[in-house]
This record gives sequence, structure tokens and C-alpha cells, in this order.
Amino acid sequence: MPTTTGPDRRTVLCGIAAVLAAPGALAACSSSPGEFQPGATTTPAPGGGATGTPLADIPVGGGRIVTRGEQSILLVQPSPGQVTAFDASCPHQGTTVDPPQNGVITCPNHFSQFDAATGAVRKGPADTGLPQVPVRVVDGTVQVI
Ligand code: FES
Repeated sequence: MPTTTGPDRRTVLCGIAAVLAAPGALAACSSSPGEFQPGATTTPAPGGGATGTPLADIPVGGGRIVTRGEQSILLVQPSPGQVTAFDASCPHQGTTVDPPQNGVITCPNHFSQFDAATGAVRKGPADTGLPQVPVRVVDGTVQVI
């Protein structure tokens, strides 16, 4: 009876995909397809990141950083049940911004400030706002669309 000693077929196919494919194709190679990984820069998302972030884990008036591949996403909940998300990379030089306090998102690098409701820049040196990322809440869980 033959024995298998090398990587299984899935591992080989995912390795090929990692070399050839777009980042979206790699999600299918994670242990949980489509799973987002918690961000490590501020508040980790114990529920599994953007697709599995329980609404209850996002402080009202605050936010939580999660990651999707290489992208950091800031989930904010300005009022109970209302969730908005932004690309958390500062438009100035790419530093991951901090979750909002008192309605203001601040970059810890050069202290640009952004409106927590809209992502619009309030204070430079950043000259543009944070791009919004579409999200939805399904059964009490925030999902990046
Ligand atoms: S990197 Fe954010 S203000 Fe400079």
C-alpha cells in the first residue's frame, strides 16, 4: 500500500495560488475560508476579525482594528448598531491610525486627525480622508463586504 510523505494536494494548490494569484484567491487557502485575522496594532478582535467580529466587541463611540490580508481596517460604531469601516492606513505615510476617541480618529505618527463618522480629514499633514470600506451587520456580526 502506498504511503504519502509530501504535502497534500490542498497545500500544493494553495502554494501555487500564493505564487500566481491575486490576494483574494489566497483567502480560500486559509483554515477558515474568508476569515479575517485580528489586527495586532491596537485592539485585537477576539471574534476572528472583520468577517467574524461580533458587534459587541466594537465599543460604541470607539473602534477596533482588524486585518484583511495586508489591509488594516478600522471598524467604528458611532452609535449602537451603526457600524462604519475605513481603510486604517493613514493617507500621509501609511501608519495605522488609532481607533476614535470623542469622534476623532488620530494617526499616532504625525497626528493627522479624521472624522470618525465620515473619515474626512480634520487636521493634516494628511491631505485626504480615510477611504470607507463597505460593511454589513448580519446576526450581530460585522462583515466586510
Ligand atoms: S503617517 Fe499619519 S500623519 Fe503622518
